[in-house]
Amino acid sequence: MGERTVVRGVLVLDGTGRDGYVADVAWTDGLITEVGVADRGGRDIDGRGLVLAPGFIDVHTHDDVVVVRAPEMLPKLSQGVTTVVVGNCGISASPVTLTSGVPDPMNLLGTAADFVYPTFAAYRQAVDRVQPSVNVVALVGHTALRTNHLDRFDRPATGGEVEAMKAQLREALENGAVGLSTGLAYKNAFAAPEAEVLALARLLDEFGGVYTTHMRTEFDGVLGALDEAFSVGRHAGVPVVVSHLKCAGAGNWGRSGEVLDQFHWAAQTQALGCDCYPYSAGSSTLDLGQVTTDFPIRITWSEPHPEAGGRDLAAIAADWGVPLLDAARRLQPAGAVYHNMAEADVRRILADPATMIGSDGLPNDPRPHPRLWGTFPRVLGHYSRDEGLFPLAEAVRKMTSLPAARFGLDRGVIKPGLAADLVLFDPLTVRDVATFDDPIRTSEGIVSVWVNGRLSFHRDQGLVERAGGFLPRTRDVRETFPRFLGVSGSPP
Ligand code: ZN
Ligand code: CU
Repeated sequence: MGERTVVRGVLVLDGTGRDGYVADVAWTDGLITEVGVADRGGRDIDGRGLVLAPGFIDVHTHDDVVVVRAPEMLPKLSQGVTTVVVGNCGISASPVTLTSGVPDPMNLLGTAADFVYPTFAAYRQAVDRVQPSVNVVALVGHTALRTNHLDRFDRPATGGEVEAMKAQLREALENGAVGLSTGLAYKNAFAAPEAEVLALARLLDEFGGVYTTHMRTEFDGVLGALDEAFSVGRHAGVPVVVSHLKCAGAGNWGRSGEVLDQFHWAAQTQALGCDCYPYSAGSSTLDLGQVTTDFPIRITWSEPHPEAGGRDLAAIAADWGVPLLDAARRLQPAGAVYHNMAEADVRRILADPATMIGSDGLPNDPRPHPRLWGTFPRVLGHYSRDEGLFPLAEAVRKMTSLPAARFGLDRGVIKPGLAADLVLFDPLTVRDVATFDDPIRTSEGIVSVWVNGRLSFHRDQGLVERAGGFLPRTRDVRETFPRFLGVSGSPP
């Protein structure tokens, strides 16, 4: 028997969304053993005045490379995150063989030296060898597959290229990948027709995987883009997760009601989910197509002009005495934060019962969007406690049982027999500290984090241990992904 830990007299928010209740929670050898009144013995922790919740699952990350290179994963662990889903937005670290340079937006993950996983199996081994502090669930990116097989990106893949991509996707699914992601808005995937995506998505049906998508557009054409995403899911017979659902662009503000109506209408007849980050600004590489005077754009990094990092594009253009677009061109390749959403839309989408929390944090950005360090405490503190957007139990559900159900994970609920991924936090003080001006800041109020039963982070000691690992797909996600969207996903 390994060491037993008990947290006593703690307010349990068990992940299902039900009201909290005061209890003792005990675990041994990585598994929760008791919820209720626990016997004495083992390591005793006083939980009075604090909340114990399942460890948070960050469903939308670009942590593929960083989990290996910086396995401490402090930006996430310090928020109470115990599992990350990597490989979103069509870009994944594996299976990838680069022939020349790192195409945009694969460069969000790392440099050419980071792409050393020609097979998914090699990536999985690397994760397990290094043992990061968090658990890792991995998607395979469609753009990554295109990079392996296409000589240019401004055209659809040929029949032969689609077959080659399918063979690689099959290898990944056989080795535990949870599904496929696309980033159809990015120029290196934009020329891929729905049929190309569908040919790959059909493989997910055979393995019981999930399809996640950064849609064709999040601007004026968002409703058509939703239709395309739903169509892929319907025709392939697989669940769809719409990534970072939003209404982007000034002409599109105020349309979140329409977007959610269309989502819920379709969700009556097919399995759909979505995620959202709790900010009204997005971030990615600097995209010339999104350069506008409608809202501020801040440069986070620029290869030719590192001194531009942290400055507004408009100010840079004024200094240089050139139009905005010319300045953007000179800065390439570069990263940017776009203040391109309306707060009311963010709130409506965030509060929707179908919406999971995903950070979309960019760990390689030297001046990252604050969502990298602040997403989960911001939902708990700012949006739930301070703004009253939803109860704390609902905030926790959006980060635990709901994502577990969407990705087929046996986690995300505090219940005997499940993995002891747990977070102890102070509901009165939990808050995000990272801002756009000062983005690399640890959140407050997260007291302790256990991953697979082991104390991994403590407020006063920082990183204590690394006890995560690769989590392979173990079941057909359709078993847990609720077919019809009620208020809650079916917990494991
Ligand atoms: Zn994306
Ligand atoms: Cu993303």
